[in-house]
Amino acid sequence: MKNDRFLRALRREPVDCTPVWLMRQAGRYLPEYRASRAKAGSFLAMAKNPELACEVTLQPLERFDLDAAILFSDILTIPDAMGLGLYFVDGEGPKFERPVRDAAAIAKLGMPDMETELGYVMDAVRVIRRELDGRVPLIGFSGSPWTLACYMVEGGGSKDFARIKALAHNDPKALHALLSVNTDAVIAYLAAQRAAGAQALQVFDTWGGVLSPAMYREFSLPYLARIAHELERGEGAERTPLIVFGRGNAAYLEDLAASGAEGVGVDWLVELGEAARRTGGRVAVQGNLDPATLYGSPEAIRREVRRALDSWRDGNGGSREGHVFNLGHGMSPDMDPEHVRVLVDEVHAHSRR
Ligand code: CP3
Repeated sequence: MKNDRFLRALRREPVDCTPVWLMRQAGRYLPEYRASRAKAGSFLAMAKNPELACEVTLQPLERFDLDAAILFSDILTIPDAMGLGLYFVDGEGPKFERPVRDAAAIAKLGMPDMETELGYVMDAVRVIRRELDGRVPLIGFSGSPWTLACYMVEGGGSKDFARIKALAHNDPKALHALLSVNTDAVIAYLAAQRAAGAQALQVFDTWGGVLSPAMYREFSLPYLARIAHELERGEGAERTPLIVFGRGNAAYLEDLAASGAEGVGVDWLVELGEAARRTGGRVAVQGNLDPATLYGSPEAIRREVRRALDSWRDGNGGSREGHVFNLGHGMSPDMDPEHVRVLVDEVHAHSRR
């Protein structure tokens, strides 16, 4: 591995500077991504073609000094492979032809086969590892059981999560059955990505933060912990680190630090210094610049990067160890690629000083 800063930071080992990668670093803000997408015809066609998935995974690395690559795919591949029929409507985001809304539909769900139905994902991981040739580590990922369930029950994105919250109140047993199937699938999916060559794994609990604390502790946290405990990922320096990222997870940092994961990803609603104090060196922390900072001027971006880096250092006993720099959520299509360069270079320059 030519650059292993990211993996060292996740092991809370010393690094020459703080590693950085960005959620949704491959995407529509890059003209070369838009060209690949036009060639493929659609996002899904691109994600299901291992060569094209590899091409767009590498695009941000050609431009910026990023310390990790993330598999180009989507969290909704699992429910798609379970037969829900994933499709995208331009401007409206993901949708399912056959959402699951009751105990009967949930009981029919089966575990997809990782090397057939989801073989295109594993092929993409193998092609990307070959093409990366050890430049930086490759991150594999999955949605969390709860976040996947949100899309499966709602049938797409949602503002109020009315259907899944109604299910939680009216038939919690059915929702637990769904979360349990999802958890088994996520564990098998991440294990297969690891076997195919993923060197770190991230679970996106994008919608954990829409739950009340009592409901988060019933419907999201225990399933994240089950993944962290049951996912076989080696020992010592060979261990494949697992990061649990969640939006709105600031109230649960102590629980997440005790979940068994090696890293916790946080959004910008918590100070990194506070995250350092509350996780107390039990896990690495990843985050957490507000993505909208990229709409600021280069000077504003540099200032916010330095503030985040120093907040971590001050809360972490004066050490920069154990921090992976990232945004608090994904990038948007209208962001300026030149601003990404400013961010990435400032992370390295300031943390090296
Ligand atoms: O970070 C990366 O560069 C890796 C690729 C990645 C994508 N989706 C590519 C993508 C990752 C890690 C995801 C995860 C994902 N997908 C999540 C969890 C992370 C998060 O953002 O909270 C969620 C909730 C989804 C579901 C999903 N897929 C949404 C909400 C959308 C956006 C729809 C839109 O029109 O913006 C997608 C599509 C999607 N996934 C795109 C990309 C680059 C946009 C596709 C396109 O139109 O080109």
